[in-house]
Amino acid sequence: MKGKVGLAPMAGVTNYSFRKICFNFGAEFAYTEMISSESVVRNISINEKYFPKDGEKKKVGIQIFGSDPFVMAEAAKKLENYGSWIDINAGCPVRKVIKKGAGSALLKDLKKLKNIIESVKQAVSCSVSVKVRLGFEKDDFERIYDTVVESGADMIAVHGRTAKQMYSGKVIWKIKNKGYIPLYINGDINSLEEAKVAMDLSGATGVLIGRASIGNPWVFSNKIPSLKEKLRVILEHFDLLEKEVGNRAVVEFRKFIAGYTKGLKGAREFRSKIMKIEDSEKLKHYFLDYFLSLYSS
Ligand SMILES: Cc1cc2nc3c(=O)[nH]c(=O)nc-3n(C[C@H](O)[C@H](O)[C@H](O)COP(=O)(O)O)c2cc1C
Repeated sequence: MKGKVGLAPMAGVTNYSFRKICFNFGAEFAYTEMISSESVVRNISINEKYFPKDGEKKKVGIQIFGSDPFVMAEAAKKLENYGSWIDINAGCPVRKVIKKGAGSALLKDLKKLKNIIESVKQAVSCSVSVKVRLGFEKDDFERIYDTVVESGADMIAVHGRTAKQMYSGKVIWKIKNKGYIPLYINGDINSLEEAKVAMDLSGATGVLIGRASIGNPWVFSNKIPSLKEKLRVILEHFDLLEKEVGNRAVVEFRKFIAGYTKGLKGAREFRSKIMKIEDSEKLKHYFLDYFLSLYSS
């Protein structure tokens, strides 16, 4: 397919193990989960868990959030060698983040957004991208795009909704693309066919896929997995997660279970049982037994 398809940043989801699974199925690039610039400046080592690991560094951008140009620049400087590029989060609509003037709150103050992008650009030698929404309360994308370009950013990605919309309302893929820098479209893209539609409508460079990939990394390969393949990937993903987060894997894996079992016979009963499991060996056995029962039915 013409155009690049990346994995959108998702806090609590796009950690190393999930990125690896998505890369295996064709995601061309990914981001870390968002990292607090203030926290990095205070103590970089507590953020190490978010950093890209060997083998993926060239394909992973490090996303930072914050509201202070100096702190954002300092954090970017400290982080740039850990990944391929620095991404500025100017799209997060979560209250905790916007209360501090970060994430999509930056879309209300384009002077500050400009100042942050320019400061980060000056501080690092890698590329800098910005992830935005169409606007804070209303669609203001044209002005946002111009600000991002004028500030010297190298790439922009846009979720085609305002911050106020959160995740409701119809997403807009038909976005005016002036073409000065690569533009990535994001929001409700559930397949490579939809990715093509979004790109055709906007002339974008590519797309970012987020929620549709959770428990469905095949969204990047456009293939429908067999039951055998599904089970193989579930177990591989769980093993990677266990290596990454240890005992917490059983609980953290829960957010992928609905996706991995979507549309399967008896999935609802299976989920209600497996969500209560707290032991990793038991979890793997439950999956094995469930898939064996599916093979034979
Ligand atoms: C659980 C979750 C966590 C997210 N965390 C981030 C984040 O850390 N940084 C960010 O820029 N966007 C974040 N997003 C937004 C996604 O990157 C994406 O813009 C949004 O989900 C729309 O794309 P989709 O419809 O393909 O999921 C998050 C979304 C979800 C569902």
